[in-house]
Amino acid sequence: MRTRFRDRRHSLLSLLRTRLLTDAYWLMAFRMFLSVPSFPGARYTARRLANLYLGRLEVWRGRTRLRSRPIKLNVEATNICNLECPACFTGVGENGRARSHMSLELYRKLLDELGPYLFQVELHNWGEPLLARHLVPMIEEAHRAGIQTTLSTNFSFPFTAERAEAIVRAGLDVFGVSIDGARQETYEQYRRGGKLDTVLANCRLMRDAKRRLGSATPLLIWEFHVFSHNTDDIERARALAADLEMGIAVVKGWVAGPEWDVERRFGYFADSSPFPCSYLWHHAIVNNDGGVAPCCGTFYREDDMGRVATATGEEGNPTFREVWNSDRFQTARRFFNERSGSAADHEHICFECPTTKLWERYRAHVAAGGTFHTFSGAHSANDTFNYFWNRRPTGSEARRRRV
Ligand SMILES: C[S@@+](CC[C@H](N)C(=O)[O-])C[C@H]1O[C@@H](n2cnc3c(N)ncnc32)[C@H](O)[C@@H]1O
Ligand code: SF4
Repeated sequence: MRTRFRDRRHSLLSLLRTRLLTDAYWLMAFRMFLSVPSFPGARYTARRLANLYLGRLEVWRGRTRLRSRPIKLNVEATNICNLECPACFTGVGENGRARSHMSLELYRKLLDELGPYLFQVELHNWGEPLLARHLVPMIEEAHRAGIQTTLSTNFSFPFTAERAEAIVRAGLDVFGVSIDGARQETYEQYRRGGKLDTVLANCRLMRDAKRRLGSATPLLIWEFHVFSHNTDDIERARALAADLEMGIAVVKGWVAGPEWDVERRFGYFADSSPFPCSYLWHHAIVNNDGGVAPCCGTFYREDDMGRVATATGEEGNPTFREVWNSDRFQTARRFFNERSGSAADHEHICFECPTTKLWERYRAHVAAGGTFHTFSGAHSANDTFNYFWNRRPTGSEARRRRV
């Protein structure tokens, strides 16, 4: 088994080396290798930087068993939500796993083990973080450990000046607010059940709390997801955001089914380029129940790579590291060396993932003499979303309450 992995790794290495000086891709890859990512608010310790480069080296070498730890962590502070957004697993009432709040015990365990390596903790995955029971101490503890903290909220629920101050005081760095429209009738088409007036009033509370406490953080960002029904609201949203002292990010929203903006007038947050999946080497996702997902696209418990247990005798592993190097994670990383395997491997969520397949096509292209610049075939964020949206793990009894 080990020899097979080594052979595959060597074939990837030789492929990389043959292109090294002849392909502009490698100059770009080298620059990317050395670049230091920007996480305002994080402490750039020697340990974090050493781990960052070790992780990149391990990607480069096609390693499946890692000595590096993730540099980013998403925790699902809670998977409960108050809205019914139609292209969100939570919004359509999917029963991928039981609804709960992440315990502080689990969170602290993760911070103890991974905190020295992390640049960023994001406090949501598929739920509404501001409904989480332990949100404020979670922010405080990560902030104290010198980790950048961020979250995204729908902000459409009762909120108070005191809570706003508590979040500012806790040291949150980035506070994203999902507001997909500048008028109630457009906003509520995607944010079903949401009240725009409430959201804007809450944003004012955050702005005012920052002013009162003389704090430059958190950075307030209006996240405007563009759909066919709200394109006329963009300019009005920009003006409102400026008034609320918020930055604004206008990015295309994904939809179930084909791309809605065929002329590509709007851009997604990121479309795919051929690279090994960053989630598998650098970016971990831990759900409210301790389940470790391969990436943020997955939703079902059955697709977890393992589980971090907090008590003896509980299902799962006592450390995150054991899950990070579990058979399922190693199999997923191996697909980036060679996309093959047993029938069970073919059921693995990463096997048919657009990112895995793109990398396989890219390698074949380079092996046939092509270059990064002559390669075409990247997929859009909408394709990736639909892969996850339409997929059900074998044996899952998943069903949606709303469609
Ligand atoms: C599942 S949400 C959870 C956080 C929070 N409940 C919220 O909505 O901001 C995670 C992120 O996905 C974004 N999101 C939800 N539906 C989307 C869509 N159709 N296209 C792009 N982003 C979307 C949200 O705006 C948020 O930034
Ligand atoms: S507010 Fe966020 S978590 Fe809730 S349904 Fe909408 S996208 Fe999903």
